Amino acid sequence: MSKIKPYKDSDLSKKEQVTKMFDTISGDYDGLNRVISFGIDIKWRKKVVNLVATQQPKMVLDIATGTGDLAIALADTNAEKIVGLDISSGMLEIGKQKINKKGLSTKIDMVLADSENMPFEDNTFDAITVAFGVRNFENLKNGLTEILRVLKPGGIFVILETSVPTKTPFKQGYNFYSKHVLPLIGRIFSKDRSAYQYLSESASVFPYGEALNNILREIGFINVEDFPQTLGVATIYKSSK
Ligand SMILES: C[S@@+](CC[C@H](N)C(=O)[O-])C[C@H]1O[C@@H](n2cnc3c(N)ncnc32)[C@H](O)[C@@H]1O
Repeated sequence: MSKIKPYKDSDLSKKEQVTKMFDTISGDYDGLNRVISFGIDIKWRKKVVNLVATQQPKMVLDIATGTGDLAIALADTNAEKIVGLDISSGMLEIGKQKINKKGLSTKIDMVLADSENMPFEDNTFDAITVAFGVRNFENLKNGLTEILRVLKPGGIFVILETSVPTKTPFKQGYNFYSKHVLPLIGRIFSKDRSAYQYLSESASVFPYGEALNNILREIGFINVEDFPQTLGVATIYKSSK
């Protein structure tokens, strides 16, 4: 698996670099997200919430929760407890402020931890989600194995991740957007120039569709299905244990 890292001249591990990068861009993240995806990311997260709601989960874990948008959207299900987990304290801090403002702090806990080594017992959660997080894991297979461990048998696991359109002319349009427009938006609006370069480079090489389905099956997930969104620029993956 490719080890594209945020900072090309740094000796830090991918995990340390990813943490540093998200700490740096945490203040810009929500605004830039809306600009980059033209606001469609809100619709994709809503679809994830609808899939999770079919399971009527009590305990939900949102991994790589960042500034908490998906954790907050998951509060629309009947879940008793939602845990948002992230490795970046900067992202979590912004998320906590949003959760407090919405009066959701008794329902949503924000936890600073690494998805590849989580502080939870086996078989704890009825539903687990990761939005735009798996491609940042240092070791994808370790992260997915750890997710399978803490998911209850019969529980649902939903990934939302960028993917690459395969059809002409969307493929060419996407390549132009991610190679030229996305890094430019990042340079103009963000403090961290390399961050948006990394985000587009890592998206272009990350496995998607059947390739990611097969990795999930190899780890031990069952009933794996993928649902491409908006011409294939993102994909939702649903599976269970
Ligand atoms: C692109 S953001 C996505 C945030 C949020 N899920 C959303 O949809 O907006 C990716 C997040 O993954 C987190 N992350 C990366 N590697 C992680 C790891 N090993 N454990 C936990 N969080 C991680 C980053 O800190 C960052 O907040």
